[in-house]
Amino acid sequence: MSAATSDARIGWIGIGRMGYAMAERLAKGGANLTVWNRTASKAEPLAQHGAKVAAALPELAACDVVFCMVSTWDDVKEVVAGPGGLLSDKTRTPKLVIECSSISLEGSAELRRLLEARGVQMLAAPVSGNAKVIKSGRLSFVCSGPRPAFDAALPYLKMIAPAASYVGEGELARIVKICHNVFLGVVTQSLAEITVLAQKAGVPRHAFLDFVNQSVMGSTFSRYKTPAFVNLDFKVTFTPNLLRKDLDLGLDAGRRFEVPMPLASLTRDIVQTLIGRGMTEEDFAQLLVLQAEASGLKLEPENVPVSDGLG
Ligand SMILES: NC(=O)c1ccc[n+]([C@@H]2O[C@H](COP(=O)([O-])OP(=O)(O)OC[C@H]3O[C@@H](n4cnc5c(N)ncnc54)[C@H](OP(=O)(O)O)[C@@H]3O)[C@@H](O)[C@H]2O)c1
Repeated sequence: MSAATSDARIGWIGIGRMGYAMAERLAKGGANLTVWNRTASKAEPLAQHGAKVAAALPELAACDVVFCMVSTWDDVKEVVAGPGGLLSDKTRTPKLVIECSSISLEGSAELRRLLEARGVQMLAAPVSGNAKVIKSGRLSFVCSGPRPAFDAALPYLKMIAPAASYVGEGELARIVKICHNVFLGVVTQSLAEITVLAQKAGVPRHAFLDFVNQSVMGSTFSRYKTPAFVNLDFKVTFTPNLLRKDLDLGLDAGRRFEVPMPLASLTRDIVQTLIGRGMTEEDFAQLLVLQAEASGLKLEPENVPVSDGLG
């Protein structure tokens, strides 16, 4: 079923960096879409693609399916179950909520209970990729919850991303996403360390990363972080605060399941250093700058055109 031909009413809560790019794909795909954002001005540009902008959250209770993409579990709870939230309309609810924010297993389970108490099904559906990855059509979802909910959601997920993995019942998708972002933090710190080491030994960053990106260790991620590392473009894709949240979620899960996570623990404190030094308004790739400073190296943009591999 393509939403362009479907009557399903889709709601969207949270038009931040990720929410905007995801909802934009639904709107451009012809979905019958109503969006809400706390800061309404961020949602308004979606009207040019046919989306309606709701003035209040309970308006979305009239939708069949509601996506949610905000920051933390506290924020999810507020927009869904808080005063004036999605469930505050006692007369109607959506059939399905697809919750995409990166939140804890415990928060996700509480959300599921809150929704099920009102007869609403929930799919946990966090994602891998930033806004540019979404635009280039390469986002991926990892989903858990009732299989029928996944099957019902799939046509809409596919409008946003080519890949949606179903990993099982309950909150299993959350642990997959948490593991993924622990890896993101650790890999970025490691890439910062080796890039600075190579540079201090005399290799320009663009030459070093050109090799890494083509080697067996290169990845979609190392490629799309290359412009930031070479030319020091730290326009935010993902904030240090959100990365710290995810590393904390990983360490909490490690404690719960009795799994030592020494690399995650170190990386969490390095990200904390970034935040403690006030480097919160730019991309988390500033880990490179921190590493350079710790190595007595002042970084300059290399001003070399490099690809991010995203087209
Ligand atoms: N950026 C990435 O690369 C990336 C990748 C994968 C997953 N994620 C995850 O996706 C989620 C969103 O990330 P993002 O980068 O899009 O963050 P963002 O740009 O900071 O956007 C956050 C969104 O949440 C809304 N929000 C936050 N607290 C709220 C509250 N209490 N009530 C109502 N709305 C609230 C914000 O509304 P306002 O506009 O009014 O502030 C905004 O729409 C996070 O869980 C993040 O960890 C991010």
